Amino acid sequence: MAIVIKGGTVLTAVDQFVADVVCEDGQIKAVGKDLDAPAGAEVIDARGQFVLPGGIDAHTHMELPFMGTVSADDFYTGTAAGVAGGTTTIIDFIIPSRNQSLLEARDFWMNNAKKAVSDYAFHMAVTWFGDQVRSEMEHVFHNDGIQSFKIFMAYRGAIGVDDVELVGVLDTAYKLGALVTSHCEHGDAVVALQTRLAERGLTEPKWHAASRPAYLEGEATNRVIQLARAASDGRNGHMAGAHEAQPVYIVHLTCKESMDAVYRARQEGQKVLVETCPQYLLLDDSVYEKPDFEGAAYVMSPPIRPKGHQDYLWNALATGSIQHVATDHCPFRQSDQKIMGRDDFRKIPNGAAGIENRMSLMWTYGVAAGRITPQQFVDVCCTQPAKIFGLYPRKGAIAVGADADVVVYDPTGTSTISAKTHRQNVDRNIFEGFEQKGRVTHTVVNGRLQFKDGDLRVERGAGRYLKRTKV
Ligand code: URP
Ligand code: ZN
Ligand code: ZN
Repeated sequence: MAIVIKGGTVLTAVDQFVADVVCEDGQIKAVGKDLDAPAGAEVIDARGQFVLPGGIDAHTHMELPFMGTVSADDFYTGTAAGVAGGTTTIIDFIIPSRNQSLLEARDFWMNNAKKAVSDYAFHMAVTWFGDQVRSEMEHVFHNDGIQSFKIFMAYRGAIGVDDVELVGVLDTAYKLGALVTSHCEHGDAVVALQTRLAERGLTEPKWHAASRPAYLEGEATNRVIQLARAASDGRNGHMAGAHEAQPVYIVHLTCKESMDAVYRARQEGQKVLVETCPQYLLLDDSVYEKPDFEGAAYVMSPPIRPKGHQDYLWNALATGSIQHVATDHCPFRQSDQKIMGRDDFRKIPNGAAGIENRMSLMWTYGVAAGRITPQQFVDVCCTQPAKIFGLYPRKGAIAVGADADVVVYDPTGTSTISAKTHRQNVDRNIFEGFEQKGRVTHTVVNGRLQFKDGDLRVERGAGRYLKRTKV
């Protein structure tokens, strides 16, 4: 059935104008003034509201086996919560265990993702390296539409790589023309700090943050940036310039130290892309002081930073230095998952939920607070992730021929975020009590109205796997 969204203010990454949007057969068929509705079309009156591309979250972990448990949203519940919050596409991570075949892991994740209600793609994490991994990287790049690889510089002893492996991944990606995304923390130094703290009996959640200081994130960010240069050097009998380096994308960047490493590299002409998340913009490390083990809800890596880093990141966002705001959605229940680390912060599963709240948080504390423009909001939440990861203009655009993933946002009214009312499959919300200005009133996914005025009508398995193209 066709849908016509009438009279709203269309927001794009560069523009805003009043127009109708006609969606038919899963695509946007027309954008313009006073358009006729196809026979039988459902009409959404969007006057006074904003109409924007469906949100893209390029960093999620649905049903991720991690730290002795599995993240609590599966591809069905997680993408459904996303749709309620205006996110219509996710890019999740295939994460093989050490020594596991990348192709075997791919099959496992692809199978799990079949229950998604909205479209999805994958990055491939590389957790070890050798000839087999190199050829499997080539395979998924050429055959499966996976054009971005992920390395973890943290989590040593599990999914984290050492520098030799890291260089191997950068080198292979360079030859392929693929993007390398990186979780930046000095994994070995984190383990040393964790051990020292635990030996002194310092086991509460706040010591998680203490064991992962910003300088260790800054060091790793700088290291992957510098090693990316080595991927290009010497190939043509000369040492390459920074502008020829392997492009890198820093995931969930949290701090001034990392941002400064990025600024330095960009000054030299190097291509470094940056993602942050709402929790790093909106929370400070006082959350770890909460009594009764409540600080565990905020245990994630990298951790929430001390006051000061948040404004630094907002400024980076406002000046276009951060390309994407993702969520790193990786929820764990307090009751039976976070509690595993009751006596030892090292055993608290790392991660938190966020997919349902990203768009409204960025609207409220970004646009409504005057920190970013509506166009920047669309750019960092919808359009840039599509461009960076090879989904544009099919995704991330309100334009004829794009997939009909459209969000209607009513900027009026307020509500309060709470775990009592959210749809994410967890018993805590790290933004509990945060006021939101406005709300998503409608989410159209692939031409179907899946969310309307609080009523979620998602269809299990309706999401499609998106093969991505090299950009
Ligand atoms: O704490 C986090 N971030 N958990 C998810 C895995 C990761 O590092 O992204
Ligand atoms: Zn990470
Ligand atoms: Zn993550």
